[in-house]
Amino acid sequence: MTAWAHGRLNGIPVLGLGTWPLRDKVAFDSVLAGLEVGFRHIDTAQMYGNEREVGAAVKASGLAREDVFITSKVSPQVAPQHIAASITQSFTALNSGPIDLMLLHWPLTDLAYFDAAIARLNEAQDQGLVKAIGISNCNVALMERAVERSGHRILVNQVEFHPMLDQSKVQAAAARLGIILEAYSPIARGAALADPVIGKIAAAHAVPAAEVVLAWIIAQGVIPVPMTTKRANAQSNLKAVTLQLSAAEMAEISALRAQHRRLISPPGWARWDAP
Ligand SMILES: NC(=O)c1ccc[n+]([C@@H]2O[C@H](COP(=O)([O-])OP(=O)(O)OC[C@H]3O[C@@H](n4cnc5c(N)ncnc54)[C@H](OP(=O)(O)O)[C@@H]3O)[C@@H](O)[C@H]2O)c1
Repeated sequence: MTAWAHGRLNGIPVLGLGTWPLRDKVAFDSVLAGLEVGFRHIDTAQMYGNEREVGAAVKASGLAREDVFITSKVSPQVAPQHIAASITQSFTALNSGPIDLMLLHWPLTDLAYFDAAIARLNEAQDQGLVKAIGISNCNVALMERAVERSGHRILVNQVEFHPMLDQSKVQAAAARLGIILEAYSPIARGAALADPVIGKIAAAHAVPAAEVVLAWIIAQGVIPVPMTTKRANAQSNLKAVTLQLSAAEMAEISALRAQHRRLISPPGWARWDAP
């Protein structure tokens, strides 16, 4: 198996493999299959309960540790005073040395929690437990707040991002603040695959619809982390890194964002439009 031959953004492979809601053997098998077909970037989280399986699959792949980029996330269910210990637990569970990227999974609607979590992430980077830090599910105001309060670079904001949701404000702020966006639920948990516009473009290229959606995201400099339990889907998703869409095709897909359909919004865990 070879090193990642495709692009990276600030060291992060431009396509990753999601792992929610995979547990136990399915998590291990799916991550190992993803690595075997060529993925080199795995997205996990404390809340997914699969960090141990992710770390074990990376070891079982036989790949050099530095060839695989692992992201985890601080659970919103961990109280601020326990965040430092929970990052150490992630480090131990993954058993893979320093974690490449540790995100704050959800900002909650409590600024004191948010600020404390950013401080704990900074300390974890100072201690060498994690190599880089970032946030997830943050609106523009929280992206600005994180950058203001963090001594280390806020490398990433991982947000719901697919053709049915307009994330243009977050995209513009990320570009201004030097934050890389990662796209979760990039194929809208399958919903994007049924869209006739995407189906037409996929047919024109003779590729699966998921490949078109992922290529549309990658072309914007956003890093998608699609989840799949199927080796064949992992293989075809990976081909999105080389699929070129025309400017007209990009615009046609971008027009779908006017639907503004957000799939994931647990009450109390984020405020999308509040200052
Ligand atoms: N930061 C956050 O708060 C947050 C929130 C949600 C998710 N995430 C991360 O983002 C990852 C991806 O998001 P997601 O799992 O919600 O949604 P997703 O990746 O958009 O969709 C996953 C679904 O798509 C199917 N699929 C994948 N590739 C396919 C293909 N080529 N053709 C047909 N179906 C395909 C999968 O089924 P098969 O197994 O059958 O392929 C699965 O049912 C998660 O696993 C997690 O790591 C983060």
